[in-house]
Amino acid sequence: MNDAVKIPAPSGSLPATDAGFERLKSVLSPGAMIRRNEPLAARTTLRVGGPADVYVEPAGEAELGAVLAICAERDWPVLVLGRGSNLLVKDGGFRGVVICLGHESFHRIEANGLRLRCGAGARVKAIAAEARRRGVGGLEFFEGIPGTLGGALRMNAGAMGASTFERVETVRLMDRAGAIEERPAAALGATYRHCEGLREFVALGAVLLGAPGSPEEIERTMAQFSQKRRASQPAAASAGCMFKNPAGIPAGRLIDELGLKGARVGAARVSLEHGNFLVNDGGATAREVLGLIELVRRRAWEARGIELETEVRIVGE
Ligand code: EPU
Repeated sequence: MNDAVKIPAPSGSLPATDAGFERLKSVLSPGAMIRRNEPLAARTTLRVGGPADVYVEPAGEAELGAVLAICAERDWPVLVLGRGSNLLVKDGGFRGVVICLGHESFHRIEANGLRLRCGAGARVKAIAAEARRRGVGGLEFFEGIPGTLGGALRMNAGAMGASTFERVETVRLMDRAGAIEERPAAALGATYRHCEGLREFVALGAVLLGAPGSPEEIERTMAQFSQKRRASQPAAASAGCMFKNPAGIPAGRLIDELGLKGARVGAARVSLEHGNFLVNDGGATAREVLGLIELVRRRAWEARGIELETEVRIVGE
Protein backbone atom coordinates (compact mmCIF):
# COMPACT_ATOMS: atom_id res chain seq x y z
CA MET A 1 0.00 0.00 0.00
CA ASN A 2 1.16 3.54 -0.73
CA ASP A 3 1.95 5.25 2.58
CA ALA A 4 0.87 8.63 1.21
CA VAL A 5 -2.75 7.55 0.94
CA LYS A 6 -2.90 5.66 4.23
CA ILE A 7 -5.60 7.09 6.45
CA PRO A 8 -4.08 7.82 9.85
CA ALA A 9 -5.61 5.85 12.73
CA PRO A 10 -7.78 8.11 14.90
CA SER A 11 -5.98 9.23 18.03
CA GLY A 12 -6.78 6.97 20.95
CA SER A 13 -6.76 3.91 18.75
CA LEU A 14 -3.04 3.25 18.88
CA PRO A 15 -1.61 0.95 21.56
CA ALA A 16 0.84 3.52 22.90
CA THR A 17 -1.79 6.22 23.56
CA ASP A 18 -3.03 6.54 27.12
CA ALA A 19 -6.37 4.97 26.22
CA GLY A 20 -4.82 2.07 24.31
CA PHE A 21 -2.25 1.40 27.00
CA GLU A 22 -4.84 1.52 29.79
CA ARG A 23 -7.11 -0.85 27.87
CA LEU A 24 -4.30 -3.41 27.61
CA LYS A 25 -3.31 -2.88 31.23
CA SER A 26 -6.89 -3.49 32.36
CA VAL A 27 -6.73 -7.18 31.38
CA LEU A 28 -3.38 -7.83 33.08
CA SER A 29 -2.70 -8.98 36.63
CA PRO A 30 0.11 -7.64 38.85
CA GLY A 31 2.32 -10.57 37.77
CA ALA A 32 2.32 -9.36 34.17
CA MET A 33 4.64 -6.76 32.67
CA ILE A 34 3.64 -3.93 30.33
CA ARG A 35 5.80 -1.08 29.06
CA ARG A 36 5.53 1.68 26.54
CA ASN A 37 8.27 2.54 24.07
CA GLU A 38 10.34 -0.49 25.02
CA PRO A 39 13.77 -0.78 23.33
CA LEU A 40 13.96 -4.05 21.40
CA ALA A 41 17.67 -4.11 20.51
CA ALA A 42 18.56 -5.56 23.91
CA ARG A 43 15.89 -8.22 23.46
CA THR A 44 17.45 -9.58 20.27
CA THR A 45 20.76 -11.38 19.86
CA LEU A 46 21.76 -9.15 16.93
CA ARG A 47 21.26 -6.14 19.21
CA VAL A 48 19.95 -3.67 16.66
CA GLY A 49 16.61 -1.94 16.11
CA GLY A 50 14.25 0.58 17.64
CA PRO A 51 11.52 0.36 20.28
CA ALA A 52 8.12 -1.33 20.39
CA ASP A 53 5.11 0.94 20.94
CA VAL A 54 4.00 -1.44 23.67
CA TYR A 55 5.72 -4.50 25.14
CA VAL A 56 3.69 -7.02 27.15
CA GLU A 57 4.47 -10.16 29.10
CA PRO A 58 1.08 -11.58 30.09
CA ALA A 59 0.96 -13.66 33.28
CA GLY A 60 -0.83 -16.64 31.74
CA GLU A 61 -2.87 -17.96 28.85
CA ALA A 62 -6.09 -16.16 29.77
CA GLU A 63 -4.30 -12.80 29.85
CA LEU A 64 -2.52 -13.59 26.59
CA GLY A 65 -5.89 -14.37 25.02
CA ALA A 66 -7.35 -11.10 26.29
CA VAL A 67 -4.39 -9.09 24.93
CA LEU A 68 -4.64 -10.79 21.53
CA ALA A 69 -8.38 -10.17 21.38
CA ILE A 70 -7.91 -6.45 22.07
CA CYS A 71 -5.23 -6.23 19.39
CA ALA A 72 -7.43 -8.08 16.87
CA GLU A 73 -10.43 -5.90 17.64
CA ARG A 74 -8.42 -2.70 17.14
CA ASP A 75 -6.31 -3.95 14.29
CA TRP A 76 -3.04 -3.38 16.13
CA PRO A 77 -0.10 -5.26 14.63
CA VAL A 78 1.22 -7.98 16.94
CA LEU A 79 4.70 -9.45 17.11
CA VAL A 80 5.32 -12.47 19.30
CA LEU A 81 8.87 -12.33 20.55
CA GLY A 82 10.82 -15.33 21.82
CA ARG A 83 14.51 -15.03 22.58
CA GLY A 84 14.92 -12.70 19.59
CA SER A 85 17.68 -14.85 18.15
CA ASN A 86 16.32 -14.99 14.63
CA LEU A 87 15.01 -11.47 14.38
CA LEU A 88 16.13 -8.21 12.81
CA VAL A 89 14.18 -5.22 14.10
CA LYS A 90 14.50 -2.13 11.92
CA ASP A 91 15.78 1.12 13.42
CA GLY A 92 12.34 2.77 13.55
CA GLY A 93 11.07 0.02 15.86
CA PHE A 94 7.75 -1.80 15.84
CA ARG A 95 4.43 0.07 15.61
CA GLY A 96 2.16 -2.22 17.53
CA VAL A 97 2.22 -4.64 20.44
CA VAL A 98 5.14 -6.96 21.10
CA ILE A 99 4.10 -9.95 23.19
CA CYS A 100 6.66 -12.10 24.96
CA LEU A 101 5.88 -15.34 26.80
CA GLY A 102 8.50 -14.51 29.40
CA HIS A 103 6.25 -15.23 32.39
CA GLU A 104 7.16 -18.40 34.27
CA SER A 105 3.77 -19.98 33.56
CA PHE A 106 4.89 -20.40 29.92
CA HIS A 107 8.21 -22.05 30.81
CA ARG A 108 7.08 -25.40 32.16
CA ILE A 109 8.75 -28.63 31.10
CA GLU A 110 6.90 -31.77 32.24
CA ALA A 111 8.30 -35.20 31.43
CA ASN A 112 6.28 -38.37 31.00
CA GLY A 113 8.45 -41.23 29.74
CA LEU A 114 9.87 -40.20 26.37
CA ARG A 115 7.42 -37.32 26.06
CA LEU A 116 8.16 -33.78 27.21
CA ARG A 117 5.27 -31.35 27.43
CA CYS A 118 6.91 -27.93 27.21
CA GLY A 119 5.68 -24.34 27.29
CA ALA A 120 6.51 -22.08 24.35
CA GLY A 121 8.49 -19.76 26.64
CA ALA A 122 10.91 -22.53 27.66
CA ARG A 123 14.43 -22.15 26.30
CA VAL A 124 15.25 -25.06 24.02
CA LYS A 125 18.62 -25.35 25.79
CA ALA A 126 16.70 -25.97 29.03
CA ILE A 127 14.63 -28.62 27.23
CA ALA A 128 17.85 -30.28 26.02
CA ALA A 129 19.22 -30.28 29.57
CA GLU A 130 16.02 -31.75 31.03
CA ALA A 131 15.93 -34.43 28.30
CA ARG A 132 19.55 -35.36 29.10
CA ARG A 133 18.80 -35.59 32.81
CA ARG A 134 15.94 -37.98 32.11
CA GLY A 135 17.74 -40.07 29.50
CA VAL A 136 15.49 -38.86 26.67
CA GLY A 137 17.52 -38.78 23.44
CA GLY A 138 16.95 -37.08 20.10
CA LEU A 139 16.83 -33.55 21.48
CA GLU A 140 20.59 -33.04 21.76
CA PHE A 141 20.56 -30.59 18.82
CA PHE A 142 18.61 -28.11 20.99
CA GLU A 143 21.78 -27.67 23.04
CA GLY A 144 23.19 -24.96 20.76
CA ILE A 145 20.08 -23.10 19.65
CA PRO A 146 19.70 -19.80 21.54
CA GLY A 147 15.92 -19.61 21.39
CA THR A 148 12.61 -20.45 23.02
CA LEU A 149 10.45 -23.38 21.99
CA GLY A 150 7.88 -20.95 20.55
CA GLY A 151 10.45 -19.48 18.19
CA ALA A 152 11.85 -22.92 17.36
CA LEU A 153 8.35 -24.09 16.40
CA ARG A 154 7.49 -20.97 14.42
CA MET A 155 10.57 -21.32 12.23
CA ASN A 156 11.21 -25.06 12.55
CA ALA A 157 14.64 -24.30 13.94
CA GLY A 158 17.36 -26.85 13.45
CA ALA A 159 21.00 -27.69 13.87
CA MET A 160 23.33 -30.64 13.37
CA GLY A 161 21.12 -32.18 10.70
CA ALA A 162 17.99 -32.24 12.89
CA SER A 163 15.02 -29.91 13.07
CA THR A 164 12.36 -29.17 15.65
CA PHE A 165 9.34 -30.74 13.97
CA GLU A 166 11.08 -34.11 13.69
CA ARG A 167 10.45 -34.32 17.45
CA VAL A 168 7.06 -32.64 17.76
CA GLU A 169 3.95 -34.72 18.36
CA THR A 170 1.35 -32.03 18.99
CA VAL A 171 1.29 -28.24 19.30
CA ARG A 172 -0.97 -26.29 21.60
CA LEU A 173 -1.86 -23.02 19.93
CA MET A 174 -3.97 -19.91 20.33
CA ASP A 175 -5.69 -18.01 17.54
CA ARG A 176 -5.82 -14.23 17.28
CA ALA A 177 -9.13 -14.16 19.14
CA GLY A 178 -7.70 -16.06 22.10
CA ALA A 179 -9.19 -19.53 21.39
CA ILE A 180 -6.97 -22.51 22.25
CA GLU A 181 -6.62 -25.85 20.52
CA GLU A 182 -4.13 -28.68 20.18
CA ARG A 183 -3.09 -29.85 16.70
CA PRO A 184 -1.00 -32.77 15.52
CA ALA A 185 2.39 -31.69 14.17
CA ALA A 186 1.63 -33.14 10.75
CA ALA A 187 -1.28 -30.71 10.32
CA LEU A 188 1.01 -27.68 10.64
CA GLY A 189 2.97 -28.00 7.41
CA ALA A 190 6.48 -27.49 8.73
CA THR A 191 9.20 -27.23 6.08
CA TYR A 192 12.88 -26.21 6.16
CA ARG A 193 13.09 -23.26 8.57
CA HIS A 194 9.39 -22.45 8.28
CA CYS A 195 6.04 -23.49 9.72
CA GLU A 196 3.18 -22.20 7.62
CA GLY A 197 0.52 -23.56 9.99
CA LEU A 198 1.70 -21.30 12.83
CA ARG A 199 1.75 -18.08 10.82
CA GLU A 200 -1.63 -16.92 12.13
CA PHE A 201 -1.37 -18.54 15.56
CA VAL A 202 0.61 -18.18 18.75
CA ALA A 203 2.28 -21.41 19.83
CA LEU A 204 1.64 -22.00 23.54
CA GLY A 205 3.65 -25.19 23.82
CA ALA A 206 4.21 -28.62 22.39
CA VAL A 207 4.59 -32.26 23.23
CA LEU A 208 8.02 -33.45 22.11
CA LEU A 209 8.70 -37.14 21.64
CA GLY A 210 12.27 -38.23 22.30
CA ALA A 211 14.02 -41.52 21.80
CA PRO A 212 15.41 -43.90 24.43
CA GLY A 213 18.92 -42.97 25.51
CA SER A 214 21.20 -42.77 28.50
CA PRO A 215 22.34 -39.54 30.14
CA GLU A 216 26.00 -40.44 29.44
CA GLU A 217 25.41 -41.11 25.75
CA ILE A 218 23.30 -37.95 25.40
CA GLU A 219 25.98 -35.93 27.19
CA ARG A 220 28.61 -37.22 24.74
CA THR A 221 26.49 -36.25 21.71
CA MET A 222 25.81 -32.82 23.17
CA ALA A 223 29.52 -32.28 23.83
CA GLN A 224 30.32 -33.19 20.21
CA PHE A 225 27.68 -30.78 18.91
CA SER A 226 28.93 -28.04 21.17
CA GLN A 227 32.51 -28.56 20.03
CA LYS A 228 31.50 -28.48 16.36
CA ARG A 229 29.52 -25.30 16.91
CA ARG A 230 32.31 -23.53 18.78
CA ALA A 231 34.79 -24.46 16.05
CA SER A 232 32.63 -23.21 13.18
CA GLN A 233 30.41 -20.40 14.46
CA PRO A 234 31.25 -16.95 15.86
CA ALA A 235 30.57 -15.93 19.45
CA ALA A 236 29.93 -12.28 18.46
CA ALA A 237 26.41 -10.82 18.44
CA SER A 238 24.46 -12.20 15.48
CA ALA A 239 21.11 -13.65 14.50
CA GLY A 240 22.64 -17.05 13.70
CA CYS A 241 22.55 -17.98 10.05
CA MET A 242 21.23 -15.00 8.09
CA PHE A 243 20.20 -16.87 4.91
CA LYS A 244 18.46 -20.15 4.22
CA ASN A 245 20.71 -22.64 2.49
CA PRO A 246 19.82 -22.48 -1.22
CA ALA A 247 19.64 -25.64 -3.31
CA GLY A 248 23.05 -27.02 -4.18
CA ILE A 249 25.39 -25.15 -1.82
CA PRO A 250 25.29 -24.05 1.82
CA ALA A 251 24.94 -20.27 2.01
CA GLY A 252 28.00 -20.07 4.29
CA ARG A 253 30.22 -21.82 1.77
CA LEU A 254 28.84 -19.70 -1.08
CA ILE A 255 29.54 -16.44 0.78
CA ASP A 256 32.99 -17.76 1.66
CA GLU A 257 33.72 -18.66 -1.98
CA LEU A 258 32.58 -15.20 -3.06
CA GLY A 259 35.34 -13.76 -0.86
CA LEU A 260 32.88 -11.85 1.27
CA LYS A 261 34.12 -12.90 4.71
CA GLY A 262 35.08 -9.73 6.55
CA ALA A 263 33.02 -7.51 4.22
CA ARG A 264 31.37 -4.75 6.19
CA VAL A 265 28.82 -1.96 6.13
CA GLY A 266 29.52 0.27 9.13
CA ALA A 267 29.72 -1.96 12.20
CA ALA A 268 27.93 -4.87 10.49
CA ARG A 269 30.37 -7.48 9.22
CA VAL A 270 30.36 -10.88 7.55
CA SER A 271 31.88 -13.20 10.16
CA LEU A 272 35.39 -14.48 9.49
CA GLU A 273 34.46 -17.78 11.16
CA HIS A 274 31.29 -18.56 9.18
CA GLY A 275 30.11 -16.81 6.03
CA ASN A 276 26.41 -17.10 6.83
CA PHE A 277 26.71 -15.18 10.10
CA LEU A 278 26.45 -11.39 9.89
CA VAL A 279 27.80 -10.04 13.15
CA ASN A 280 27.36 -6.77 15.00
CA ASP A 281 30.82 -5.51 15.88
CA GLY A 282 29.29 -3.16 18.42
CA GLY A 283 26.96 -0.28 17.73
CA ALA A 284 25.73 -1.47 14.33
CA THR A 285 22.37 -0.16 13.13
CA ALA A 286 19.66 -2.20 11.46
CA ARG A 287 20.23 -0.09 8.36
CA GLU A 288 23.85 -1.26 8.26
CA VAL A 289 22.89 -4.92 8.67
CA LEU A 290 20.25 -4.55 5.94
CA GLY A 291 22.86 -2.90 3.71
CA LEU A 292 25.19 -5.85 4.25
CA ILE A 293 22.37 -8.33 3.51
CA GLU A 294 21.75 -6.53 0.22
CA LEU A 295 25.44 -6.50 -0.64
CA VAL A 296 25.70 -10.27 -0.08
CA ARG A 297 22.49 -11.00 -1.99
CA ARG A 298 23.59 -8.84 -4.93
CA ARG A 299 26.99 -10.55 -5.16
CA ALA A 300 25.43 -14.04 -4.94
CA TRP A 301 23.02 -13.12 -7.73
CA GLU A 302 25.58 -11.42 -9.98
CA ALA A 303 28.34 -13.99 -9.56
CA ARG A 304 26.34 -17.22 -9.37
CA GLY A 305 22.73 -16.48 -10.28
CA ILE A 306 21.67 -17.61 -6.79
CA GLU A 307 18.87 -15.79 -5.02
CA LEU A 308 19.56 -15.88 -1.30
CA GLU A 309 16.53 -15.71 0.95
CA THR A 310 16.85 -14.49 4.53
CA GLU A 311 16.12 -17.02 7.24
CA VAL A 312 16.07 -14.25 9.83
CA ARG A 313 12.72 -12.52 10.21
CA ILE A 314 12.83 -8.78 9.46
CA VAL A 315 10.23 -6.61 11.20
CA GLY A 316 9.51 -2.98 11.98
CA GLU A 317 9.98 0.25 10.12
N1 EPU B 1 31.39 -23.60 5.00
C1 EPU B 1 32.41 -22.94 4.38
N2 EPU B 1 32.67 -21.66 4.75
C2 EPU B 1 31.95 -21.02 5.71
C3 EPU B 1 30.90 -21.69 6.33
C4 EPU B 1 30.64 -22.99 5.96
O1 EPU B 1 33.08 -23.49 3.50
O2 EPU B 1 32.25 -19.86 5.99
C5 EPU B 1 31.10 -24.98 4.63
C6 EPU B 1 31.39 -25.94 5.78
O3 EPU B 1 32.72 -26.33 5.81
C7 EPU B 1 30.46 -27.09 5.49
C8 EPU B 1 29.27 -26.42 4.81
O4 EPU B 1 29.72 -25.15 4.37
O5 EPU B 1 31.04 -27.97 4.57
C9 EPU B 1 28.06 -26.27 5.75
O6 EPU B 1 28.46 -25.52 6.91
P1 EPU B 1 27.91 -25.85 8.38
O7 EPU B 1 28.22 -27.26 8.72
O8 EPU B 1 28.39 -24.79 9.27
O9 EPU B 1 26.36 -25.81 8.22
P2 EPU B 1 25.41 -24.69 7.60
O10 EPU B 1 24.60 -25.34 6.54
O11 EPU B 1 26.15 -23.47 7.25
C10 EPU B 1 23.46 -25.21 9.23
C11 EPU B 1 22.38 -24.37 9.84
C12 EPU B 1 22.86 -23.79 11.16
C13 EPU B 1 23.31 -24.88 12.09
C14 EPU B 1 24.44 -25.61 11.40
C15 EPU B 1 25.05 -26.71 12.24
C16 EPU B 1 21.12 -23.28 8.01
C17 EPU B 1 20.92 -22.03 7.26
N3 EPU B 1 22.07 -23.25 8.96
O12 EPU B 1 24.51 -24.33 8.87
O13 EPU B 1 21.75 -23.12 11.74
O14 EPU B 1 23.74 -24.37 13.33
O15 EPU B 1 23.92 -26.18 10.18
O16 EPU B 1 24.28 -27.82 12.20
O17 EPU B 1 20.41 -24.25 7.78
C18 EPU B 1 20.64 -21.05 12.03
O18 EPU B 1 19.67 -21.58 11.51
O19 EPU B 1 20.62 -19.88 12.45
C19 EPU B 1 21.86 -21.81 12.16
C20 EPU B 1 22.98 -21.28 12.63
